[in-house]
Amino acid sequence: MHCFVSGVMVKRSESRSERSMFKTIEWTPEGVRMIDQTRLPGEEVYLTCRDYREVAEAIRRMVIRGAPAIGVAAAMGIALGVKDSPAHTVAELRAEFETIAQVISQTRPTAVNLFWAVERMRRVFDKMLAEDASDEETIVKAKSQLVEEAQRMLAEDIAANEAMGRHGAALLEDSTTVLTHCNAGALATGGFGTALGVIRSAVQQGKKIRVFADETRPFLQGARLTAWELAHDGIPVTLITDSMAGHFMKQGTLKAVIVGADRIAANGDVANKIGTYTLAVLARENKIPFYVAAPLSTIDLQLASGDLIPIEERSPEEVTRLSGVTIAPQNIEARHPAFDVTPHRYVTAIITERGIAREPYTDSLRAFFK
Ligand code: MRU
Repeated sequence: MHCFVSGVMVKRSESRSERSMFKTIEWTPEGVRMIDQTRLPGEEVYLTCRDYREVAEAIRRMVIRGAPAIGVAAAMGIALGVKDSPAHTVAELRAEFETIAQVISQTRPTAVNLFWAVERMRRVFDKMLAEDASDEETIVKAKSQLVEEAQRMLAEDIAANEAMGRHGAALLEDSTTVLTHCNAGALATGGFGTALGVIRSAVQQGKKIRVFADETRPFLQGARLTAWELAHDGIPVTLITDSMAGHFMKQGTLKAVIVGADRIAANGDVANKIGTYTLAVLARENKIPFYVAAPLSTIDLQLASGDLIPIEERSPEEVTRLSGVTIAPQNIEARHPAFDVTPHRYVTAIITERGIAREPYTDSLRAFFK
């Protein structure tokens, strides 16, 4: 499938302040525009998806990734699909909505934000269709309402990250070094970031924070994206390989770990990028706090525990190949679970836009939804 019909290369000569205004995703009259995260840090290329199938393909290929950003992309994909639908009747439009929702829902299984976004769009759509109006009026209204809702979700996500930052910054001491894994920054969200949003807020408050970024094999979100994003903002960052984390904890260099999440079960178990569980166990061994920052859209109260979270298994080729070069023997068996689940007993606190949850998470998380 030819996914993209337009791309804009950002000039490398742009000033620093211009560059720091990168947008992870935005709605434009031409379609859904996003920075191509598969090409960072080498190239800042923006792609415009002109139909919902292109948006779905962008999510699947990880052109856009990170749970909250996937949620926003899903909503914009649905809005785009419905807006361009040739349906003449409400029944036709409903059928089209279901097709679009299904295509979008089949892209990536772990980040619950995707399904949360589809359901939120469905509620708006159903409400429009329940109104007593002609088919023509209903279709026009449903199209514009879905576009507005998707844009609202982007704005709300940024606001949630900023609120998370305000709550979480107090947990980070001044003159400290923290470890993060994968990319839970502006690139993984509508903007500002969850884990990196907390770090950004602490830095904005005047705290001196150095971030150690795990490279995050095999997709290298830490090396390619977190290191790029933090350097972009002038936040001191040191890149390490995943296997170095324990060493730096034991040496006393790292004072805390802060990560994002793809799905948090009702009991506080956290699905996040593969390798997170290892870090949480290491943090406990070394008596270092292990924080998770995530919006309420990442919390799945319908799942009692993390054992029920579906874990995406990606192509083993992402393990046996690096930047297009084969690094393992031909035909060797390899596995690539993209996420793991950290049991809640290793999680010191969960930072959300409503405040900070601690054990027992079954009560503290649920309270945020009341
Ligand atoms: O496979 P990815 O890159 O989509 O995985 C992303 C993560 O695991 C992030 O840590 C998580 O989505 C939180 S992003 C704020």
